[in-house]
Amino acid sequence: MSSNSLRDADIRYVLHPYTNLAAHEAQGPFMAMRGEGIRVFDENGKDYIEGMAGLWCASLGFSEPRLKEAAMRQFDLLPFFHQFNHKSHEPGILLAQKLIEMAPVPMSHVFFANSGSEANDTVVKIVRYMNNALGRPQKKKIISRQRGYHGVTVAAASLTGLPLNHRNFDLPIEGIRHTSCPHYWRYGQEGESEQQFTDRMAAELEEMILAEGPDTVAAFIAEPIMGAGGVVVPPAGYFPKIQAVLKKYDILMVADEVICGFGRTGKAWGSQTFDIQPDILSCAKALSSAYLPISAVMVNERVYEAVKKGSAEIGAFGHGYTYSGHPIAAAVALETLAIYEERQIFDHVANVGPTMQAALRQLETHPLVGNARGIGLIGALELVADKDHKVPFDPALGVGAQVVARAQDEGLILRSMAGDIVAFSPPLIITESEIEEMMARFNRALSAVTASLAVPV
Ligand SMILES: Cc1ncc(COP(=O)(O)O)c(C=O)c1O
Repeated sequence: MSSNSLRDADIRYVLHPYTNLAAHEAQGPFMAMRGEGIRVFDENGKDYIEGMAGLWCASLGFSEPRLKEAAMRQFDLLPFFHQFNHKSHEPGILLAQKLIEMAPVPMSHVFFANSGSEANDTVVKIVRYMNNALGRPQKKKIISRQRGYHGVTVAAASLTGLPLNHRNFDLPIEGIRHTSCPHYWRYGQEGESEQQFTDRMAAELEEMILAEGPDTVAAFIAEPIMGAGGVVVPPAGYFPKIQAVLKKYDILMVADEVICGFGRTGKAWGSQTFDIQPDILSCAKALSSAYLPISAVMVNERVYEAVKKGSAEIGAFGHGYTYSGHPIAAAVALETLAIYEERQIFDHVANVGPTMQAALRQLETHPLVGNARGIGLIGALELVADKDHKVPFDPALGVGAQVVARAQDEGLILRSMAGDIVAFSPPLIITESEIEEMMARFNRALSAVTASLAVPV
């Protein structure tokens, strides 16, 4: 099909996720036709550095031949089998074992799903199931955070703390609460030190738990670094303080490692970077370098034992997806994890990450950049109208979106989020010189938008 008729068919038939549907009819799609390394190419052969690794996920870039070969081998051997009713298969078993070996804290068992949302939906169900099995059916509420992102299924979207995911969907569901977002630069009060802010975050969580009744609160879920909520890096000491509160009231810590898992922060897990000891951990995305959909939920022994007890009473653990642990996806994930080890990808992130972070921090002198932040190969710039007073732009101006559109003209794909926050999350294989090229393209885009806004430089 010609690219013009593809474009027409897209507008006519595809209901696009996370897209302004009316605007799309006028604008049409950006179509990537092929990928190579950290780049994708459009229908005219123009190259774009994928500064977001797709959706924070294509960790090995867009042309890793070993993942294709791993998929083909499994296609030939056994393209489908499942894990229901005591059935199993080799890649599913090996992947579970590998994840348990890699886990940041001792974990017991792994449940597979196909997306981050399904993984977190599963977390909600496991938490309910566990507490019913333990004979404390009132202990069910889950505390998430404002601006946290945990996906879009009915339960996962309820955990998500963003208005876009609730409005018109009649969400959140019952039993979910959202506590404060640990974005010190934005929400720190006048004269409040980072440590005082962190103490306040822990105190606000404790107040919420006490107001709800500690015996009604089952779990707390958090991303080590908030992604879609604006790449919010918590202050040092935040998670240890939060976890001390959780421990006091026997509340499970759930780490949503869907973005941070598998090297994004320069260590295998964000939990290691931020000193988190999760009872339950969800992961997806870079688990398979996003080449095939697969996600996982790891639970510790205590959670596993409770779920096992419930399943024995009822007759079965009544949860699972047809494609849970799909053998081809599992084989690709196993190969992805083998590549991470062989090429020491997490160390590579720790080595090149500072180059990207320094380039972002340097931009803090730019008149539009209020705050630069990040760690490893995840970062963001928060654009503001008035730096001294952290005054945001009028959202109607769409300044972040303008910068991202201009970056695309320059051959760089990025993402802007509510609050004119521009995110960077390139493939983990990016080299120093590619980071420099990415930032050069970005700087040209930022300069062009700055000039158009007539901000004095
Ligand atoms: C932290 C986090 N959790 C969960 C999800 C949901 O994953 P999925 O889009 O695969 O359902 C995402 C997606 O971006 C995410 O960033």
